Amino acid sequence: MSADEQDLIRIVEAPYGSDLYRQSVLLREEVLRIPLGLTLSEEELKDDVQRRHFCALSHGAVVGSVSLRPLDAKTVQLRQMAVAEDRRREKIGAELLKRAEAFVRKEGFRRMVLNARLGAEGFYARFGYVASGDPFDEKTIPHIRMSKDLA
Ligand SMILES: CC(C)(COP(=O)(O)OP(=O)(O)OC[C@H]1O[C@@H](n2cnc3c(N)ncnc32)[C@H](O)[C@@H]1OP(=O)(O)O)[C@@H](O)C(=O)NCCC(=O)NCCS
Repeated sequence: MSADEQDLIRIVEAPYGSDLYRQSVLLREEVLRIPLGLTLSEEELKDDVQRRHFCALSHGAVVGSVSLRPLDAKTVQLRQMAVAEDRRREKIGAELLKRAEAFVRKEGFRRMVLNARLGAEGFYARFGYVASGDPFDEKTIPHIRMSKDLA
């Protein structure tokens, strides 16, 4: 396979309002909301302005997405991790998580928190995230709080 044909995944920032951001929103809706019979709410989309967004690109198309929202001076919440259904288990999620952690460290934050869907918590656990508390419902499905110290 030539270098051109190789499917190199690139993780890039998808600035709020950009074309990459819009493609990422479509992917988030397809992966995280439509299977639950939901759409992204106005409230969530408004909150996007407070977040930084990163996407995974394959041949120019968005195949993964993640958003980061600062909660306080030390803590960032990782939200909306999504990989296209036909591109799972190719380490795209791992690359997005690695990039998100590097960004958060560089910006001087010390802790990442997230609400993991039950079923996805094993993914985060592989990268050192620890669950705490009892499962709770969010967007109609059970989640568990997880966190990781990045200091
Ligand atoms: C969860 C998700 C983001 C993982 O992305 P992915 O690109 O398929 O994961 P990767 O290929 O990077 O996997 C990295 C490692 O985690 C493991 N892994 C992936 N998904 C897993 C899961 N659901 N449970 C346990 N381990 C998982 C992989 O086997 C791999 O392990 P290895 O390094 O030992 O081989 C993806 O499956 C997804 O978008 N799911 C639907 C939406 C969702 O649940 N998002 C999370 C909301 S909290």
